[in-house]
Amino acid sequence: MAPPTAAALARQTNDLDAFWLPFTPNRAFKRAPRLIARAKGMHYFTPDGRAVVDGLAGLWCSNADHNRDPIVAAIRDQAAELDYAAAFHFAHAKSFELASRVAALAPGDLNRVFFCNSGSEAVDTALKIALAYHNVRGEGSRTRLIGRERGYHGVGFGGISVGGIVNNRKFFGTLLAGVDHLPATYSREHQAFSKGEPEWGAHLADELERIVALHSASTIAAVIVEPMAGSTGVLAPPKGYLERLRAICDKHGILLIFDEVITGFGRLGHAFAAERYGVTPDLLCFAKGVNSGAVPMGGVIAREGVYEAFMHGPEHAIELFHGYTYSAHPLACAAGLAALDLYRDENLFERARRLEPRYAEAAMTLKGLPGVLDVRAIGIAAGIDLAPRPGGPGERGYEAMERAFHDEDLVIRITGDTLAVAPPLIVSDDEIGQIFEKVARVIRAVA
Ligand SMILES: Cc1ncc(COP(=O)(O)O)c(C=O)c1O
Repeated sequence: MAPPTAAALARQTNDLDAFWLPFTPNRAFKRAPRLIARAKGMHYFTPDGRAVVDGLAGLWCSNADHNRDPIVAAIRDQAAELDYAAAFHFAHAKSFELASRVAALAPGDLNRVFFCNSGSEAVDTALKIALAYHNVRGEGSRTRLIGRERGYHGVGFGGISVGGIVNNRKFFGTLLAGVDHLPATYSREHQAFSKGEPEWGAHLADELERIVALHSASTIAAVIVEPMAGSTGVLAPPKGYLERLRAICDKHGILLIFDEVITGFGRLGHAFAAERYGVTPDLLCFAKGVNSGAVPMGGVIAREGVYEAFMHGPEHAIELFHGYTYSAHPLACAAGLAALDLYRDENLFERARRLEPRYAEAAMTLKGLPGVLDVRAIGIAAGIDLAPRPGGPGERGYEAMERAFHDEDLVIRITGDTLAVAPPLIVSDDEIGQIFEKVARVIRAVA
């Protein structure tokens, strides 16, 4: 085929066809696009200049809000000074600085930070470290990974294997072998309209004992859970659940992995949910909020003993055969340091903790609206279950998201007929009220 002429290239249009959007119904989107042109603070701006409240902190990531000057400046300066440095066998100073700062925020001896570029990579990294940890200690029979129903751990093969969302799994073949799942911790019957951690459900952690009895602990490497399951609709852990999971893992030599991709960096009023619950996992996955969503970044924090298990053999030999070209990318690290400064200087985690009761109270005003089956609130996050329309699951939720954007100037998240609302941590008291008034109008409109 002849190369395109200059005239043909000049005729090329910038239309919506080429981009295959992720986790988006492409045809519906392209019929009525929701385009965002710029952002500042709590707001997005559409190409025609309409201000839209960001009720989801980006995608659970812009915890310090959008386009913060210090983060923008840090990225700009870093790009001018060092755009990239080889990530294997070489390193740059900010990667060490950020690792130290992240480790200092984590509880206990969660001291060693491995960087990657997303939550999905963080999960796959943690699962691989867990498998390799047992291997290097001579317990190579521990190959099973235990996830949880309704869990979301990103979209890598590891993450969808331990994840518990049917549509994220059923199209993609046989996934990883040797995976089992704990039951979800949610029960509407026992937990409806919970503020914070529900009273009912700690006993569901004991299901791990059943799984151990079935497979033998000697075959199980790790258990992975989100302390609060965000993507399937803000499911807080029942009181005492995580403590019980920790105790059972300890009893059987199983590593406990917390996926804190959403809960990390303030969403539950602490640097990490591990701190809120006083439960220290062996591996902790983070991403999103580490640099307020400004540059792709993720990571895994390992306890001292996990890291130490690998530090044997000849010194010139690689200890863990894993890593990414963009692990600890200089722009991501620079943005991370600036974001952590903002979180510290503006006390954003404490702020979230202080606002939590007000946030929950505002979310609960939705109780009793037509079609509202449940409202859950924890930290600066709320999940609202709407009744599916007969014969059309997900339709009401989708319309709610569209109406929120087009009619109420509000971005919210949907999973099926469940809405999630989780604005940046700088949200004000008044803005919380306004956001839930908008959500209430949307719910009435889709009734
Ligand atoms: C708990 C959890 N783990 C992993 C991921 C995947 O992160 P990413 O989309 O950055 O790969 C997400 C994303 O929402 C998440 O909520």
